[in-house]
Amino acid sequence: MWFNHIYFLKFSIILFVKGFTFWYTFAYEDFVIIIMEDVVDIIEDGDELRFNENLFIVSKTDLKGRITYANDLFINMSGYSEDELIGAPHNIVRHPDMPRAIFKLLWDKVQAGEEIFAYVKNKTKDGKYYWVHAFITPEFDPKTKKITGYHSVRRSPSRKGLEAIIPIYEKMLEAERDGGMEASTKLLMDILSQKKVSYESFILSFE
Ligand SMILES: Cc1cc2nc3c(=O)[nH]c(=O)nc-3n(C[C@H](O)[C@H](O)[C@H](O)COP(=O)(O)O)c2cc1C
Repeated sequence: MWFNHIYFLKFSIILFVKGFTFWYTFAYEDFVIIIMEDVVDIIEDGDELRFNENLFIVSKTDLKGRITYANDLFINMSGYSEDELIGAPHNIVRHPDMPRAIFKLLWDKVQAGEEIFAYVKNKTKDGKYYWVHAFITPEFDPKTKKITGYHSVRRSPSRKGLEAIIPIYEKMLEAERDGGMEASTKLLMDILSQKKVSYESFILSFE
């Protein structure tokens, strides 16, 4: 709840206006009108959940990908309780529409100490889904410089980016069914080399 404006007015009024993504409350008390904006964090659109573009879904994992931290938005979007998430493998939210080759790319990068941006479709506990634009990084011990775990911060992806990536992931899944992960990785690399971009710059070009 954010207190956006405070007006000092000399008349009495109570008014409720309900909007799509927010609502305002005008409340009169002692000649003061306070306008409070309550921004909706999660919007349901059929089976798809979307989240406010100013918010981040955050999680941390240990070296094996078991969740060690989940912020409130992750808990609310996924539909799992904090107790269910902590200690669970991160594939608890894996969606079957996601090509395995994307996760291989992700793990290859972060285990090599690098960062990666990726579009990921996730599945909620009750079978709905949400897309994220994830930024996944390794975390290092400051003394030994060894990787101690991984960290993912996710924003709401652009619709343009999703329009571009969804057909590519569909083709990759198809390739995976016939030729396994090798075939789908090759397909992704072929598509990207035709576009003369890396996966990362392709993803970032839509944001
Ligand atoms: C920090 C971090 C965050 C991850 N976030 C997700 C995620 O949001 N959704 C997901 O499906 N996999 C995520 N993964 C990848 C999973 O660990 C896993 O590789 C993936 O779900 C594929 O699961 P599978 O190998 O059992 O098929 C994440 C991994 C790390 C290290």
